[in-house]
Amino acid sequence: MTRIHDHLVEERRDQLAVLRIDREAALGALSGDLVRALGEYLDVLRTDERVRVFVLTGTGKGFIAGADISEYHGVTAEEFADYQQLSRRVFGALESLPQLTIAAVNGYALGGGFEIALCCDLILAADRARFGLPEVKLGLLPGGGGTQRLTRDAGVRFATEAVVTGRFLGPEELQQRGVVSAIHPAADLLDKAIELAEDIAAKPPLAVAAAKQLIRSAVGTPLQEGLTAEHQVLFDLFATADAAEGISAFLDKRQPRFVGR
Ligand code: CAA
Repeated sequence: MTRIHDHLVEERRDQLAVLRIDREAALGALSGDLVRALGEYLDVLRTDERVRVFVLTGTGKGFIAGADISEYHGVTAEEFADYQQLSRRVFGALESLPQLTIAAVNGYALGGGFEIALCCDLILAADRARFGLPEVKLGLLPGGGGTQRLTRDAGVRFATEAVVTGRFLGPEELQQRGVVSAIHPAADLLDKAIELAEDIAAKPPLAVAAAKQLIRSAVGTPLQEGLTAEHQVLFDLFATADAAEGISAFLDKRQPRFVGR
């Protein structure tokens, strides 16, 4: 366990990095300082070839309760815009990590907290987790991609209702929408996330990374273009040692040993 910031704790396991937002008193609210530290962490993580899967979680009943609202009070329009630009860059850095990313949402994931989860490849939720984009209640709207990413992930009408009411969304309804992959008792959530992360980390890394990139770029890519890209990547993978190993291991009825080449 390594404390890398007042409110960030990292645990390394074989091929995994687990980062926990440790700001229980404010339910994980994202101060500007915390977003900056998260950005610096992600900038290092992206080039760390030892890490294949990244898990982000929170503490207690807060995953991330959004932007730190106390920092919105009395700031200038420029300072407010600076915070939003910083968040946009850092959320984008999370979304574009080469590693597979899992949000283990232990509690409130509101505003920027939900938006951060939407930047992850997979979202696992505790049964007590509550998601939402409540910015409308502040006279604002989501500034970390909520109107764009939730719409792409869950559809226009669902996103509209979520944003204009700002209501809490339970994990079950988000699972029905395909946003949440699985729901676990809060006490088991992190273990389940790590189990899933270990399963993914044991898969051939080139295939996992390529699948992530193709799926991420599918929205917004014309179908024929996407299908051509899929073939190109598949043919490249077919030429790898890992594909030869995976196919041989299946035929030999043994466990494959992947090397990442
Ligand atoms: N910013 C700052 N502090 C926060 C916070 C936030 N987003 N969310 C919770 N806290 C603090 C509370 O102020 C409280 O601190 P004190 O003990 O010092 O009073 C502590 O965390 C515990 O919170 P509550 O007492 O409110 O706990 P609760 O269980 O009664 O309610 C909650 C939990 C429903 C999540 C409630 O705290 C809440 O509504 N929080 C605000 C959520 C929100 O609106 N998030 C969106 C922010 S805007 C954004 O993210 C996007 C953008 O920039 C446009």
